[in-house]
Amino acid sequence: MHITDGVTLEQALDEIRGAATADQLEAARVRFLGRKAGLLNQAYKQIKALATDARKDRGRQLQQARAEITAALDKRNQVLGADAIKASGTPSADRDRDSSVPGVFPAVGHVHPLTQTIEEIVRIFSSLGFDLAEGPEVETEWYNFDALNITPDHPAREEYQSFYLGHGRAMRSQTSSVQIRVMEQRVKERGAVPVRIIAPGRVFRPDSIDATHHSTFHQVEGLWVDKGVTMADLKGVLDLFMKGLLGAETKIRFRPSFFPFTEPSAELDVHWSVSGKPEDAEWLEMAGCGMVDPNVLETVGYDPETYTGFAFGFGIDRLTMLRCRINDVRLFLENDLRFLEQF
Ligand code: DAH
Repeated sequence: MHITDGVTLEQALDEIRGAATADQLEAARVRFLGRKAGLLNQAYKQIKALATDARKDRGRQLQQARAEITAALDKRNQVLGADAIKASGTPSADRDRDSSVPGVFPAVGHVHPLTQTIEEIVRIFSSLGFDLAEGPEVETEWYNFDALNITPDHPAREEYQSFYLGHGRAMRSQTSSVQIRVMEQRVKERGAVPVRIIAPGRVFRPDSIDATHHSTFHQVEGLWVDKGVTMADLKGVLDLFMKGLLGAETKIRFRPSFFPFTEPSAELDVHWSVSGKPEDAEWLEMAGCGMVDPNVLETVGYDPETYTGFAFGFGIDRLTMLRCRINDVRLFLENDLRFLEQF
């Protein structure tokens, strides 16, 4: 079939299939399908000159020719496009997508070192049968002090300086307040039943801020009240905990101390080398602990003749400084990614 006198459909299709570049293919498209001077349009114009009967057939022929030429152009275009990508390994101009280029990864955060320590603490104590408890950060003076045997005139009250909010409220200065809340609630719900909890959380004191002090820091409180709980249990639990957190070689020791809510009271030291060299190891104070004072048990409705218990309170920031070998507590709260990304 002829498109024009000099060109058959077969020739047109051959020319399209033979186009070696995108430019040659475009030239072929213009030659056959171009609006102004395209051969097909020229052929359409010549239809008018035909006899009426022949016009219809010729119209159909040309329609068919246009469909075949268009299909051939599309097909060749695809082949050339794929070849171009294969040859250069980079996207061709009209295909700026390359599925082999690595994607843009969104920045993924990770758990803050203090939270990592808390998660580890919770994991170790859960394995020893401790439940997780929580208390409010805005506390009443009753829970933060009085119920813990720290009366307003008690000299120890000065050591637990607090941000007072008025109306008998303060930002809690220790997580020990959670001991009281938990025991009170147990008695209310189920009577005086055994308690074994830890309570990690944020605490607040108006300390001047330096490398080892902050106005906002973190503690984890522990409490185990049951029949027959002794100081040996306390030492055994804390020994297991420190070994779980810092390694099986870790050594601890107790030193006599005083806290208004425990009797007897002790300070727990850990033998630790900040540099990592064994010869630099020293005893570092890590926690306060002791046997729950009978006054405290009585206040919340446990009979101290039947029940005994131990309590302890660790500084989580301190523990994290050991774990991560950090020497400045302020780093935890500055939100500096250069620091945080290291852990
Ligand atoms: N709450 C005490 C503090 O902030 C730490 C503490 C000492 C907690 C002895 C206890 C404990 O549970 O038995 O210094």
